[in-house]
Amino acid sequence: MKKVIEITKLKKTFGKTEALTDVTFDVNEGEIVGFIGPNGAGKSTTIRILLGLIKADSGTAKIFGEDVWDDAVSIHKRVAYVPGDVNLWPNLTGGQVIDLFLSMRGAKVDKKRKEELMKRFEFDPTKKCRAYSKGNRQKVALIAAFAADADVYLFDEPTAGLDPLQERVFQSYAREVQQRGASVLLSSHILSEVEQLCDKVAIIRQGEIVESGSLTDLRHLTRSQINLKTAEELPNLEEQSFAHNVVREKDEIVFQLDSDHLNDFLNYIEPFTVLKLESAPPRLEDLFMRHYETVKGGD
Ligand SMILES: Nc1ncnc2c1ncn2[C@@H]1O[C@H](COP(=O)(O)OP(=O)(O)OP(=O)(O)O)[C@@H](O)[C@H]1O
Ligand SMILES: [Mg+2]
Repeated sequence: MKKVIEITKLKKTFGKTEALTDVTFDVNEGEIVGFIGPNGAGKSTTIRILLGLIKADSGTAKIFGEDVWDDAVSIHKRVAYVPGDVNLWPNLTGGQVIDLFLSMRGAKVDKKRKEELMKRFEFDPTKKCRAYSKGNRQKVALIAAFAADADVYLFDEPTAGLDPLQERVFQSYAREVQQRGASVLLSSHILSEVEQLCDKVAIIRQGEIVESGSLTDLRHLTRSQINLKTAEELPNLEEQSFAHNVVREKDEIVFQLDSDHLNDFLNYIEPFTVLKLESAPPRLEDLFMRHYETVKGGD
């Protein structure tokens, strides 16, 4: 598979803050890679280095085999970028700014596609930007990013402020560019978004990639939360290897279930009368906690 983004041992400090200590991962052609990590972990710093906006202290970052700092001009013709907090010209309309963004990229605009994007994102391009809400400012950048073809899309929490319906619109366009063979790097705090869209994820903590690989490979890190109510007492649930952090509340039991031991749980529960069974998907937070426990040798 062709490597499109190659990041190797990036380091970056701001004064005394070590923002990146060792960031290494790749994005291949036609791949959507989720870039996740807690606040301040170094996602935006990595993306800003990829854009050539800041220079790494050491290590290398390449897009299409070209150095992101030295060859920024040629790289930018093939890259679209959407940050999580879009700054716009207050006195221009949304439509004007979309065109401005596109002309800055030197992109060939597909007018029909632009119209379609505005319709699907339910965006009114005639208002002055100062009047747009947070979500609508995001839409300006998203519509500009998708209205002309790019080979690489760098998204830094692009759906911050979008309602769930609009988030789906974003996802469908992201899938579309992927099918065309483009590569997408998507930083996000929303694990469900990453799970639905991404082939691979890179997890960053304190400036270091702590896990990267396909979501299937990372499944061993995930646990769902189960809320359970049965007619009978459940004996020895605590001793089952699939169950973690079992808490018995009044008439309900809450515990974490290993995602790859779902069947063991179903076999265990089979003889009982189940009155309620709720399963919540693993949250980003849990994934981190799991990883942290693993590193420290916990269960
Ligand atoms: N220009 C800067 N000057 C000083 N410190 C900075 C600068 N930019 C980033 N940092 C620091 O570098 C670290 C990484 O920040 P970064 O913005 O990359 O995190 P992030 O993963 O994008 O977080 P978030 O999820 O909150 O967006 C943080 O400790 C941040 O305070
Ligand atoms: Mg950030």
